[in-house]
Amino acid sequence: MLGSKALVSACEMPAGVSIRAPVPAAMRSASRSGLRACPGLRQRPSTVYPGGAACGAAAKDVEAHTPGTNGVPKHDQAAKLSTAAVHGGERVGRPRVADSLTTPIVQTSTYWFRNTAELIDYNEGRFDSFEYGRYGNPTSKAVEAKIKALEGAEDCLVSASGMNAVTSMLLSLVPPGGHIVTTSDCYWRTRQFMQNFLPKMNIGVSVIKPNDMESLKQALDTYNVSLFFSESPTNPYLRCVDIPAIAKMCHAKGAHVCIDSTFATPINQQAIALGADLVLHSATKYIAGHNDVLSGVLAGKTELVEKVREFHHIMGGVVDPHAAYLVLRGAKTLQLRVERHNESAMEIAQRLEKHPKIDRVWYPGLPSHPDYAIAKSQMTGFGGVVSFEVRGGLNECISFIDNVKLPYIAPSLGGVESLIEMPAVQSYWGFGPAKRAEIGIKENLIRFSIGIEDVEDIWDDLVQALEYVP
Ligand SMILES: Cc1ncc(COP(=O)(O)O)c(C=O)c1O
Repeated sequence: MLGSKALVSACEMPAGVSIRAPVPAAMRSASRSGLRACPGLRQRPSTVYPGGAACGAAAKDVEAHTPGTNGVPKHDQAAKLSTAAVHGGERVGRPRVADSLTTPIVQTSTYWFRNTAELIDYNEGRFDSFEYGRYGNPTSKAVEAKIKALEGAEDCLVSASGMNAVTSMLLSLVPPGGHIVTTSDCYWRTRQFMQNFLPKMNIGVSVIKPNDMESLKQALDTYNVSLFFSESPTNPYLRCVDIPAIAKMCHAKGAHVCIDSTFATPINQQAIALGADLVLHSATKYIAGHNDVLSGVLAGKTELVEKVREFHHIMGGVVDPHAAYLVLRGAKTLQLRVERHNESAMEIAQRLEKHPKIDRVWYPGLPSHPDYAIAKSQMTGFGGVVSFEVRGGLNECISFIDNVKLPYIAPSLGGVESLIEMPAVQSYWGFGPAKRAEIGIKENLIRFSIGIEDVEDIWDDLVQALEYVP
């Protein structure tokens, strides 16, 4: 059983360190973001844009996105999300270049203006174009429009990695001296940032167990909380937080809610419809889906995304146009892939639970998972990651993992290839056994990201590798 007390104490972070660094002022006005698209804007004649189509497209995409009650998409909604995955941001609303069906990779660092009048028109929002690569790019803008369509979001910002999205979001939305509430199980680099860097800015962090509503209430009553931030499901124990309940409590106290929905994807969980103000993804994972590119996306309320965008323009963590193209290309098959990941993971999780060499399986689609009821109420599928504990300790677990033949031993998740790792060795090795125990990372834990290979091939491989466990 996961030592939740240990997890919490390990993540407690000091607050009260004073900060001198000012919050960077936005250097670019919203009108320079290069991300607006409004009817009636003048377009450069040499670029064929469907006049005013961008706004229409965005509206159409979002219209297609009508989740059922409680934010959980209805069954026929999967088809709509599939359409949004293919066409969102691409069918209309982007430049048409050389009649290319696919969105072109616009490989440029800067954009030119015919004359000063055109530049002034651009500055004042009468001419729709881009100015400089750090402020926007047509290929990355198409990614943003696609994610908006998939998440039913007002706005979206794409960046160079999931961590860039996390750090930019936290640094721009939480003021120096502010306070955030987060949950104990999370991606270790996010935890490291919150633990080691936010306190330098006098930002306090309360770490609560997932769904410990009493501690959430206490933190909201005690501090001026700007933001609640949690993964759902979490990495690596797939804990799920009750998004509607948390949003209700946080909103009553004026705190925003951001959910890292990387493990869920917009196909399995509609975080914004469930009540979150912002949803974040490491697009490196399921959204791009092919283990070949890094990217991150943040989507949600315009006023919040715009603040992050201004900061992002200064920090410069932009996604390269080639990478943006790979995200677009991968995202088109998101719904199909996720359906397969969901099916295979559920099957493997159920079988593992019955295997004598397995001590425990962590999968939110299993009734044995502590957050099964929450997951069922807010997700339509439970994703492709299954974590499990091999009978024995570190050495027994190594005997297993060193004998798998189909999955790669590698970090990351969410791609078409199955990836397998021991968190104790892959990400937490440098912590040492005592610290790992303190933060709840078990020595015999496996995190398995199930790919889209044949499920029987995956199972047969796991079974033969488990034979090596003494
Ligand atoms: C839940 C979660 N969020 C964010 C990140 C960071 O994403 P990236 O590796 O794209 O920077 C990861 C990486 O594994 C993750 O698992």
